[in-house]
Amino acid sequence: MDETTFADSYRTASGLTVRKLTEHIGAQIVGVDLSRPIPADAVADIRSAWERHGVVIFRDQDLPAAAHRDFSAHFGPLIGHVVNRFNMADCPEVTILSNITNEKGEKIGADRAGMLWHSDMSFLPRPSMGSLLYGVECPPQGADTEFASMFAAYDALPAEERQRLAGLRGIHDYPWHYRTYLSHRQPLTPEEEAKTPPVAHPLVRTHPSTGRQALYVGEGLTRSIEGMDDDAGRRLVVELSDFATQPAFVYRHKWQPGDLVFWDNRSTMHRATDFDNTYRRLMRRTTIQGDAPFYRPAGH
Ligand SMILES: [Fe+2]
Repeated sequence: MDETTFADSYRTASGLTVRKLTEHIGAQIVGVDLSRPIPADAVADIRSAWERHGVVIFRDQDLPAAAHRDFSAHFGPLIGHVVNRFNMADCPEVTILSNITNEKGEKIGADRAGMLWHSDMSFLPRPSMGSLLYGVECPPQGADTEFASMFAAYDALPAEERQRLAGLRGIHDYPWHYRTYLSHRQPLTPEEEAKTPPVAHPLVRTHPSTGRQALYVGEGLTRSIEGMDDDAGRRLVVELSDFATQPAFVYRHKWQPGDLVFWDNRSTMHRATDFDNTYRRLMRRTTIQGDAPFYRPAGH
């Protein structure tokens, strides 16, 4: 469903307007200039809309890198990417995503990243809880970002399947992902590989703020399932990833320069989509440190 046809909005106590973008995921927040100091009650309202809707978007923001960093820091400590070659020199908490090359012919940012469904940094023992992506230069078509509600996906599973999955753990493996899907890039250094050994996380995770259950699995970073043989585990990962990303659970963001999109990695997955590489694309991203995922059965 597209944002112009889904009318459902509310006003928060601090005076922000929150407009839902689809039935299950996504809301636009109107009435705040993110480049200025934000009052504590507005920060609290933004946090609660973000946790409730999974993705919140802000349009027409003029956000220098330092302001992007400062707004992000309201929600938790920031982490640069483990592959830190594209973190900004003067603002290392901000990572550049771009297809632009410099005068030496080198890419100025990570290019063609995240094109398979994933939750950011799920390969860490304490993955990211949220990410904030800002559009500086956006192709006029293509390069959309799709987001899927893992709450909605979990809720749509049959009860016996929820029970079975709650006892399983997915194996999240960045070096495997990099070798398999990012072979166009300079390989990881042995030091970078050593920083990211595979980790296991529950397939169903309990959201620490809302208590809702979410599927936590995606074909991009979840290699397989603990205790299953690799092929069977991989098949289950892909099956769940496909189930979770059916159109009814997805919001597709079409970027305009000045958009800031803030998503909850604990309850959503996302992927980038392709675009014509003759267009320039320049995005800035921050990532918020999260806690170790856990599963707590309902009523406990
Ligand atoms: Fe991502």
